[in-house]
Amino acid sequence: MSWQAPLLDIDPLLDDRETRIIVCCGSGGVGKTTTAAALGLRAAERGRTVVVLTIDPARRLAQSMGLTELDNTPRRVDGIDESAGGQLHAMMLDMKRTFDEIVVQHAEPERAQAILENPFYQSLSAGFAGTQEYMAMEKLGQLRARDEWDLIIVDTPPSRSALDFLDAPKRLGSFLDGKFIKLLMAPAKAGGRAGMKFLNVGLSMMTGALNKVVGAHLLRDVQTFVAAMDTMFGGFRKRADATYRLLQAPGTAFLVVAAPERDALREASYFVERLAAERMPLAGLVLNRVHASGAARLTAERALAAAEALEDLAAEWPGAGDPAPSAVTTAEVGDPVDCPAVENLTDGRIADHVTGKTEGKTFTEEILAEPDGLPAESLAAGLLRLHAERMQVVAREGRTRDRFASVHPDVPVAEVAALPGDVHDLEGLRAVGERLANGQPAAA
Ligand SMILES: Nc1ncnc2c1ncn2[C@@H]1O[C@H](COP(=O)(O)OP(=O)(O)OP(=O)(O)O)[C@@H](O)[C@H]1O
Ligand SMILES: [Mg+2]
Repeated sequence: MSWQAPLLDIDPLLDDRETRIIVCCGSGGVGKTTTAAALGLRAAERGRTVVVLTIDPARRLAQSMGLTELDNTPRRVDGIDESAGGQLHAMMLDMKRTFDEIVVQHAEPERAQAILENPFYQSLSAGFAGTQEYMAMEKLGQLRARDEWDLIIVDTPPSRSALDFLDAPKRLGSFLDGKFIKLLMAPAKAGGRAGMKFLNVGLSMMTGALNKVVGAHLLRDVQTFVAAMDTMFGGFRKRADATYRLLQAPGTAFLVVAAPERDALREASYFVERLAAERMPLAGLVLNRVHASGAARLTAERALAAAEALEDLAAEWPGAGDPAPSAVTTAEVGDPVDCPAVENLTDGRIADHVTGKTEGKTFTEEILAEPDGLPAESLAAGLLRLHAERMQVVAREGRTRDRFASVHPDVPVAEVAALPGDVHDLEGLRAVGERLANGQPAAA
């Protein structure tokens, strides 16, 4: 039985002035950054003033949006159609710099300097687990507070699990707010300079033995770090909580991006449940890189049967046994996503297997142009096998999608067909945006 999920209608969501934040989440590599950028471009060309906060975009994609340096501030994107009155701004998150900005903003200059130079701070800000998620939330809070954009689109970090985006900031917050640090800080809080002395005494008692092992220098660094971070502890937690509330607000819409594969959809399923538990507004599921076929009426079984029949015929051809390019087997095709021949199959043109380009000849013209008369049956059989392969992928993706829809029948879904190549320029983003808005994979 096939479950028909409600269609996720993207344009009304983008056009609704009440929509102020869209968060694109999902597991690693499913197309979060691409979706965020494509939505930003589409919303801007439909008249909204948009900022897209991207995280680790592929270099070519970043360049196409004018993001050539990591300076942590939004830049206006050139080359978009602003006739509807919109604008697109984009930025790449630089988490170290975002962390530094918070330090500078919240600590006295001398103290800020001590923190920035502290080796513990440096390792924390550069790569402590969860820092990126935390910083994305911080940055979102900052962008929202500036109120310069009427729509903020947030990409999320390339975590293994989509849930990390929600969990990591809390984890980091509770580390920074943690008992150990509180214990160390308590005397300092109690009374300024005298308190600091007390803290140092307390620390040296606790760490006297350690001192011998790790060395006084290192311990001094820990002390400086802990003492200096004091100013910011309350702030971290408070701001993380505030951003969390922002995510629950009615102007926020979560989009869960997933590939039509079992693991990605299972992850998406957890995330959908988690959002509901946190009362965070889910707009729907984006099923990205879906495969389709313009010749869907020819089933895989029939295509395979025809291929076999043709190959039998070809075997009787004089000169049979020569290796022909047509003898493509399932194993050689590999992942159909990366195979230009598959992407080009449906428009009836032959792809150059090396460059992926077509010579502009139709399949029949190509066969007729074969100088040495490669058996047409053999070529046709190869293409039929490719078609069968494609149809099997289409069927498998359909089953996976239906399983998700049967568990979450109320979650609206938009399907985005896989483009023949990577998405690395504004034109590619526009194409993804159109597919998002259509919601149904156009028969490629
Ligand atoms: N619909 C599509 N058709 C073709 N290629 C796509 C499509 N969507 C995404 N891609 C490509 O897939 C790759 C991964 O996409 P993207 O970087 O957006 O994923 P991500 O979820 O942000 O990954 P990460 O978790 O690493 O941040 C990119 O090379 C992108 O160009
Ligand atoms: Mg990404």
